[in-house]
Amino acid sequence: MSTPDRFMRGSSLCASMHGPRGGARQVHARGPRPARLVAVAVCIAAGAASAQQRQASPEAADAAAPSVLTAPGESPQLGEPATPEQIAGWDIGIGPDGENLPEGSGTPSQGAEVYATKCIACHGEDGAGGPNDVLAGGHGTLTDAAPVRTIGSYWPYATTLFDYVRRAMPYTQPQSLTNDEAYALTAYLLELNGVIDRNDVMNADTLPRVAMPNRDGFMWAWPDWKQ
Ligand code: HEC
Repeated sequence: MSTPDRFMRGSSLCASMHGPRGGARQVHARGPRPARLVAVAVCIAAGAASAQQRQASPEAADAAAPSVLTAPGESPQLGEPATPEQIAGWDIGIGPDGENLPEGSGTPSQGAEVYATKCIACHGEDGAGGPNDVLAGGHGTLTDAAPVRTIGSYWPYATTLFDYVRRAMPYTQPQSLTNDEAYALTAYLLELNGVIDRNDVMNADTLPRVAMPNRDGFMWAWPDWKQ
């Protein structure tokens, strides 16, 4: 883009909001005068800086210039069909009946080890007392004035726990866990909540069969709808 073009583009971008030659149009039209002056000064300064940069290095100026139109190669490729591999990468949802659960397995004691390194800082020892969500306890509190909703007291499906942990945790590194780690952590959190025993193995076969304490604590909000 030539220098005059660049100025034209700069001036049309600024002028569309501030009016030709800086006379206020839409933005700040009713604002105090100093605000108008500052806005105009910023526009002029941006144009001047861009011209200086172009003189020093035209290539670098072009590379640094924010483009209004995105080059085809940099677009999000809208309109192109997603490949099966791309879809599989997103399609990681687990159904309540265990549909889509992957290979792998884990026990509560294996999960305790992973928890101690990847989860404890935010969720506390034994799933409570950390800065973030309480993961265990709260049983029988749902009708209290301040219910403590946890995996054990509230969640209706054990499979959701695997889905959530694998998808979203650790909070700062989502989807970094292996399937075995996600099964083991699921097992550990279920054991902490007294739902399974220390030596129970969680996998695609056993996890959907875990009966959650609050499974029947939900009611259909629209009874007329077919379930
Ligand atoms: C950096 C802090 C951090 C770490 C580390 C972390 N979490 Fe979390 N966790 C959070 C936050 C914040 C939330 C609430 C997220 C929200 O509500 O969107 C959460 C929510 C959860 C929940 C849902 C609780 C509920 O009842 O809604 C589970 C289960 C969970 N984390 C498990 C884990 C596991 C397992 C690990 C270790 C692999 C882990 N988290 C590591 C911060 C963390």
